Amino acid sequence: MPTNTLSITDNRTGKSYELPVTDGTIKAADLRQIKTGDDDFGLMTYDPGFTNTASCRSAITFIDGDAGILRYRGYPIEQLAEQSTFLETAYLLLRGELPSKAELERWVHDITHHTIIHENVRKFLDGFRYDAHPMGVFVSTVAALSTFYPEAKRIDDEGSRQSQIFRLIAKSPTVAAFAYRHMIGMPYAYPDNELSYTGNFLNMMFRATEVRYKPDPVLERALDVLFILHADHEQNCSTSAMRGVGSAHSDPYSAMAAAAAALYGPLHGGANEEVLRMLREIGTAQAIPAFIKRVKTHEVRLMGFGHRVYKNYDPRAKIIKQTADEVFEVTGRNPLIDIARELERIALEDDYFVERKLYPNVDFYSGIIYEAMRFFPVEMFPVLFAIGRTPGWLAQWHELLLDKDQRIARPRQIYTGAGERRYVPITAR
Ligand code: ACO
Repeated sequence: MPTNTLSITDNRTGKSYELPVTDGTIKAADLRQIKTGDDDFGLMTYDPGFTNTASCRSAITFIDGDAGILRYRGYPIEQLAEQSTFLETAYLLLRGELPSKAELERWVHDITHHTIIHENVRKFLDGFRYDAHPMGVFVSTVAALSTFYPEAKRIDDEGSRQSQIFRLIAKSPTVAAFAYRHMIGMPYAYPDNELSYTGNFLNMMFRATEVRYKPDPVLERALDVLFILHADHEQNCSTSAMRGVGSAHSDPYSAMAAAAAALYGPLHGGANEEVLRMLREIGTAQAIPAFIKRVKTHEVRLMGFGHRVYKNYDPRAKIIKQTADEVFEVTGRNPLIDIARELERIALEDDYFVERKLYPNVDFYSGIIYEAMRFFPVEMFPVLFAIGRTPGWLAQWHELLLDKDQRIARPRQIYTGAGERRYVPITAR
């Protein structure tokens, strides 16, 4: 008769233990009873990069990396990308259900009416160097917002939590667009509440001297879809940073700044920027085989390929590939797409990539679309990712705070340094 337990025999002592198995996991703390003697701390697991450790129970996002499945609150990403909007998806992630018409109107109204940022933010934006990377500006400005909303520290107050959620979703595009305008030396363009969330973001990015900016509906929808695709991805590096900092009960602005800082890294949200640089460096389809050779000798990585969780085609990359064609109808074809498609074709036939199950991830094609769309500069790619990921970070933060199992994040280590030794005065060294 099978039981939901795991029997362990410690061959160091000959003792046996029976640990409960719940949801396909054992509690790491249950291993601590496995000791060689009274002065033994107890057995731990060693898991750099947390490749096989569940840090929480979560009802937000489901991924089956082997099958290439991604669902938010049970809804397949393909259906949301086709039928939902970014703000509706944000509601779904944060509240758990799709909104009624009235609920959605209220939600959109509340977010739309928090898009303006305090004028003092403009002043410190001016203090950044003229060529400051907009992601660095974004990270710092999100952190600085906590000083404008000191009540955000009241993380146990649901009313305060909801206010900060509205503010962060609403102000992310404003901060992002202002960071861009600072970089290129254009005057800041203020939010236009008559436009959609994404239409307004395009307005704040690209409005020049026209009285009213009219976003192209195809580009507006394509960017909205891209935001939906990036909205959450369970316990990735930046979300773990959000939860890690949030577990110390920091305010959500500080926690989200940490999450955005993690996203800035080239192995995470910075990858789409790297993909474009790589495609430009390759330059022509003829140069692809030589580049693949360098990848296989581990001289360079094929950016936009591989994923910790997906060992199959990333479903988001599939949707982005389709969206690219719609965008090119408006903008004209980005020639980098041909190099990307050929690179993908060659890589997917090569044993190196097949054996390691390396497929295109979300970043492989997103940069090409961003570049084609009114010429977002590469520096803005991780910032666009951060706007899309904001509701996911906040949903995970909110879930963390209501989860009674959660405690301050504090991993253990295996100490490998020197044993106790006597301090030597500097004159005697
Ligand atoms: N190009 C070439 N080889 C790769 C790549 C790649 N992009 N990704 C993994 N490999 C190889 C590794 O060299 C390793 O080979 P080895 O066993 O011979 O040493 C093997 O595949 C396993 O790779 P790991 O680095 O152990 O895989 P891990 O799960 O730790 O890393 C990661 C995942 C960081 C995404 C990795 O695939 C990578 O660096 N990709 C490129 C960067 C990128 O596109 N990041 C975006 C991820 S998606 C996102 O964050 C939104």
